Amino acid sequence: MHDEYVDTTTAIQFSGEKEQYAAVKFFNAAFRAEESGLRQAHELAEEVSTWSPDLGEVLRLYGDEEGWHRELITSFLHSIDGKILPMGRVTKTLYGLYARAERMETIVLANLMFETIGATTYRMALRNVEYPSARHMLKILTRDESFHIPLNVHFLRHVLERVQVAPLRLRFIFGLLFFSLTLLPLASRPKAQAFDRLGRYELSRAYVEQLAKVFLAEPDLRLEPPRLLLWFFGLKRRELLKMEGPAVASIEAAEAAADRRNVQVEAL
Ligand SMILES: [Fe+2]
Ligand SMILES: [Fe+2]
Repeated sequence: MHDEYVDTTTAIQFSGEKEQYAAVKFFNAAFRAEESGLRQAHELAEEVSTWSPDLGEVLRLYGDEEGWHRELITSFLHSIDGKILPMGRVTKTLYGLYARAERMETIVLANLMFETIGATTYRMALRNVEYPSARHMLKILTRDESFHIPLNVHFLRHVLERVQVAPLRLRFIFGLLFFSLTLLPLASRPKAQAFDRLGRYELSRAYVEQLAKVFLAEPDLRLEPPRLLLWFFGLKRRELLKMEGPAVASIEAAEAAADRRNVQVEAL
């Protein structure tokens, strides 16, 4: 991973202060996601290593990759005259709750859902962002976070095989996270929209669509996307199941992502 770097020698000419600040906010949100992903992955790695050293090692490497993203984002922020800002109220609440999660299946499930909306946001931002260095950042993040989705599905399955889980409890947390993440664009749009130019509705809808696709493709997990949200955004279960291409969480997707040089990142 350290062979790859983002060329930031040509400074980005933003259209104005508003866009520059929105870019700083956008990458600050990404920074916080990496930071939290890194910590959770390394904590899980320790626990998992006691029963599966291989899986523990994968988790450690996964955490290291998030750490590398965090470094990339930090230097990118400097290149756009930005810095790491204190967390906003919503971000603080969200990560505060997440950091308090103790049960392994809750952590892995939350990770999986965070990775999904992260990859979705980056891929959608690629539609609109034209600055080459920012695009390069987005492509790296999209590529790697997309790989983290099947990885987390795999972890979740292993964890669910191992630990005693009350199915209702897990379904309740799933629903709660699903709704909260769908509402997240309400908080993020006023801050980042001038950079990624993504509307509140289109982003929320994409979150629902992508999250639903991940879980519909894995019926054995028995986590059914909330029907109310599908209905609200005019999404049909049947069509989501039929959508083109292998499911993002499939083994094919994971294998295709294993060699980074072969990964084609496309805007969503
Ligand atoms: Fe990451
Ligand atoms: Fe990730």
